[in-house]
Formats: sequence, structure tokens, C-alpha cells
Amino acid sequence: MALIKLLPRCLFQVAFSISFLLGPTLGGGLKVRFYDKSCPQAEAIVRDTVNSYFSQDPTVSAPLLRLHFHDCFVRGCDGSVLLNSTRTNKAEKDAKPNQTLDGFYVIDAAKAALEKACPATVSCADILALAARDAVSLATGFRKKMNLTKENLYQVETGRRDGFLSKATEAEAHLPSSDDNIAILKANFASKGLDSRDLAILSGAHAIGTSHCFSFEKRLHHHYNGRGGADPTVHPRYAVELLEKCRPGNSTVVEMVPGSSTTFDTKYYELVARRRGLFHSDAALMEDEVTRGYVYSSLKLPASSFFVDFGESMIKMGKAGVLTGKSGEIRKNCALVNH
Ligand code: HEM
Repeated sequence: MALIKLLPRCLFQVAFSISFLLGPTLGGGLKVRFYDKSCPQAEAIVRDTVNSYFSQDPTVSAPLLRLHFHDCFVRGCDGSVLLNSTRTNKAEKDAKPNQTLDGFYVIDAAKAALEKACPATVSCADILALAARDAVSLATGFRKKMNLTKENLYQVETGRRDGFLSKATEAEAHLPSSDDNIAILKANFASKGLDSRDLAILSGAHAIGTSHCFSFEKRLHHHYNGRGGADPTVHPRYAVELLEKCRPGNSTVVEMVPGSSTTFDTKYYELVARRRGLFHSDAALMEDEVTRGYVYSSLKLPASSFFVDFGESMIKMGKAGVLTGKSGEIRKNCALVNH
């Protein structure tokens, strides 16, 4: 009897604990057009800023897309990737996998314009989410051809707030590595509420941008995995082509998709299917039924269907560990916490 009496309370407590734990991860509190009343021009300001940089240099899209991903995978989408290190703390920005991030100046320019229009209203975490969407939308060469009349690929949910902490050690622990196998990638994505299909879709971000040779060179050499021989998942001819492009020193970069690194489309999947993905983590998509299935299906479907999928997975990623309501703050300067 006593047990029965206790049950509802226990269930309530369990439900409460689960919702407490999952609440922030599931993005409760975010909504489309969150700033409609508080700063109606917010999205236009971000779009115009991204647009003005993109029109001078279309390579700006890739780093902006990557910034939002690196923000969301460490401590949730809370702008932690933008904070500077201090005397006593090494921030995410200075972690090894983040040394190749770029595009901070675009976020800072958008923030400066937003602070003029609506002071202390729009979070840096939301600017990252909006800028990533705008950057990809602009890079979608197909948009006109596919008769996609909408201005943007997808609608961004906003209402995130900025966090107070940023730790290099967390970036090193949580960001995926280009050498990761499919099991590690799936587990990492699952910990952010993303399934295997999302992994396949979001990896499609590698349709744009470049990589430093040091991020993948190891797989081209003879002692990959200590077993002799290069990574068997890279096509031997592609390995030779890449070795020819990569000059000694640390600065050489190559396009993710040769000849098409500023156009967001499905060529990435063609390359992955032909063992010409740049990273072991790209090739790993062929090792799982779901991810391989997505690679093959994207070869048959129109790019517009990938765009829809990409938008849905980006919205899901954008909910990871967000701070909403009264949590966190709205930073005045994206690189510094307010004081
Ligand atoms: C699946 C696991 C992933 C791994 C292991 C990975 C790893 C990497 C690495 C090593 C680079 C090259 C860095 C350099 O040397 O310059 C890179 C670039 C890039 N990544 Fe990923 N990434 C992954 C997923 C994603 C996702 C989910 C997105 C976005 C949604 C993304 C967007 C990008 C973009 C756009 C670039 C090019 C950046 C530029 O040109 O500046 N990546 N990634």
C-alpha cells in the first residue's frame, strides 16, 4: 500500500528529473521569430552583414557554418566558442581543433550592428545560428535553378542565451576528430540528440570549405593505424592527388570538394561514395547501413531534398544544450562575458 502511495510521487520525480536533464538539450524555449517584438530587424541585420562579406568573398560561408557546429558540440549552442581566453582560463577558441576556425569578424560585425539597433537583446549564440543559415543559403548555387523561391533554406529557431564558461579541454574532448570511426561518430552525435541520419546529413556541410593538409595527411601515409599502408578507405589515386597538393609545412589547404568549395550541393556525397571523401570520418559514412543509405539516396534525389533534410538536422543541432529564459545572459561583446 505504502509502495502504491509512493509511486505517483516517484514517477513525478523521475519525470521531473528527466525533463530537467533533457529540457535544455531538447531546445525548450526556442522558437522561430523569437525577436519579432524585441528586435524585429534582428534577422535582417545578420543577413545583411553576412551578405556584405559574402559578396566580397564567398569562401566566408564555410567558416561561418563550422562555427555554429563547433559552438553546439561543446557545452551546447551557448556562444562559448566565441569567448576569449583569460589569464586563468584557456578558452575553446584556443583548443587545438579550433585553431582553424575563422569568420569571428563577421559575428562581431553583426553583433556591433545589433547592439546599435537593439542593445542587449540578441544573443551571440543566436547570431551564430542565424549566420550559419544565411551563409549556407547564400552558398546554395542551386537555389535559383531549383526554383526555391524562399529567401532562406530553413527557418532558424532563436531565443538562445549566452553562457559564461568556455574551456579548451571540453572542446578537445567533445569535438569529433577527422580520424574517428563510425561508432565513435555515432556515439558523439547521439550525445547531442542527433541520430545516424543527422550524422550523414550534417556531414554534407563538407560540401563547402577547405581543410589544412595536417587535418587528414596521416591517412595518406604508410603507417596509418600502425599496420603499414595508407587508410584503405581512401581511393589510392585520390591519395596520390592529395599528396601532390600538400606541400611540406603547415599552411597548405585543399578544397573539401575539388573545384566546388563555395557551392553548397550534393557533390560531397558523390565523392564519399567513390572513396574520395577528404577525412576518414567522411569515408566512415559508408560503414553503417543508415549513413551509407543516405549517401546513396542523395545521389538519386534532387538537391532540394538534401536542402530540406539539412535544414531539419541543423534545427535539431541548434537545440543542443541551449540556455533559455533566465539562464545565461545576452553578451554585449561576443568575446567577453558581461561584468
Ligand atoms: C562528422 C564529424 C566531423 C568532423 C570529424 C569534422 C572535421 C573537420 C575538419 C578536420 C575540418 C578541416 C579543418 C582544417 O584543417 O582547416 C573541417 C572543416 C569544416 N567542417 Fe567539419 N567535421 C565534422 C562535421 C561537420 C559538421 C556537422 C559541420 C557543419 C554542420 C561541419 C562543417 C565544416 C565546414 C563548413 C568546414 C570547412 C571550414 C572552412 O573552410 O574554413 N563539419 N571539419
